[in-house]
Amino acid sequence: MSISVVILAAGLGTRMKSNKAKVLQSLSGKAMIFHILKQAFAISDDISVVLFHQKELIKEEICKDFENVRFFTQDLEHYPGTAGALKSYTPKYERLLVLCGDMPLITQKSLEKMRDLKADFGVAVFESKEPKNYGRVVLKNDEVQKIVEFKDASENEKQISICNSGVYVIKSEILAQVLPQISNQNAAKEYYLTDAIALAKSLNASVKACFVDELEFMGVNDKFELSVAETLLQERIKKKLMLQGVIFHNPSSSFISCEAVFKGECEIYEHVRIEGKSVIENSIIKSSSVIEDSVVINSDLGPLAHLRPKCELVNTHIGNFVECKNAKLKGVKAGHLSYLGDCEINEGTNVGCGTITCNYDGLKKHKTIIGKKVFIGSDTQLIAPVEIEDEVIIAAGSSVSGCVPKGALFINRAEKKIVKDFFYKKFGLQ
Ligand code: UD1
Ligand code: MG
Repeated sequence: MSISVVILAAGLGTRMKSNKAKVLQSLSGKAMIFHILKQAFAISDDISVVLFHQKELIKEEICKDFENVRFFTQDLEHYPGTAGALKSYTPKYERLLVLCGDMPLITQKSLEKMRDLKADFGVAVFESKEPKNYGRVVLKNDEVQKIVEFKDASENEKQISICNSGVYVIKSEILAQVLPQISNQNAAKEYYLTDAIALAKSLNASVKACFVDELEFMGVNDKFELSVAETLLQERIKKKLMLQGVIFHNPSSSFISCEAVFKGECEIYEHVRIEGKSVIENSIIKSSSVIEDSVVINSDLGPLAHLRPKCELVNTHIGNFVECKNAKLKGVKAGHLSYLGDCEINEGTNVGCGTITCNYDGLKKHKTIIGKKVFIGSDTQLIAPVEIEDEVIIAAGSSVSGCVPKGALFINRAEKKIVKDFFYKKFGLQ
């Protein structure tokens, strides 16, 4: 059965105390609204978002990942509140699902449960030991009588432990009828969507409660709730990966982007951070390493290694304190203390400790290309643009620039000089 989905995201998000709109706050590497849209698109082809605050920025962010989202603008000045948000919106289908932009943990399964609810009006509710500021739901059997916002609730109503999650499934024609009747006679002087329930009941509509999981439907309003939601999302991501075959040592210490992909058998040690659309295949990532938007295949990395964006490592060993950026490394060993940026290094090459690609001349970035079976001695500076052909030896302590031909030895360090007993002569000890 087709259903329209509308996500309310026009609110100011004041409690977040941020210059960034609430729905753009990041969770596991993507904006809060991304997580909701992903689940929504799994059940519907008519997805709309209602915006106002930071409208253009949010729109731009959404359009990076999703096509065919319909955007509506709320008249927040005249019609503030969750019902005000729906005034400009028209659904395509006969039923619609209303979601809030601040519930990043909802899953496709629960949205399907709501979609399939047999009622004119369905409200997703949960029982909470700590109902906080959630709207309180007055139930008779599983029929919802009304929802009272926390700000407007009496002491008795505040004792109710059934909470409104803010997700509703509604017959489009019922919404169209009740929406103009909602007033702003309440503590917040806002047009509450929750008032639609009592109005729908007066039209003899059946209003059913659908019990859902509290944590999955949590509303993220402030930075504490943001951290709780992100932790839960991280747990989900890592559990899925572990069941898929990834080993995590102390999983709670590591951060894995929701867009990272793992293939084959991987092992992740403690305090690892994997960002963006990284791909990790049959590799071991040791403690405290950071990988950003990079591909690591049949390789081992760290401890304390850093791959900045656009690295591609295949059959490679990267040790501690090695930083790479835009580095294509195939069959390479770089065991310690190096910076490898804007470079291509090929099979059998050993990068000695303290090797640095000097890729930036103050104006432009330049490339370093290193062939096969090259031995780069420790403390080498590769002053890009540099091209080192196959089977070259670079003596330790060299500053290399230009091209080094196949099979050569390159050495340009200062000549060795020993002045016997110099110390004693200088200080007059002899
Ligand atoms: C809302 C519900 C409350 C419920 C809680 C669940 C109302 C009146 N209250 O409260 O019963 O327990 O969610 O999390 O519906 N928004 C707009 N335009 C507005 C105001 C809000 O689009 O004028 C959007 C917000 O951007 C947000 C969502 O609606 O994504 C919910 O708004 P929020 O201010 O978080 O409502 P709560 O106070 O949490
Ligand atoms: Mg909220």
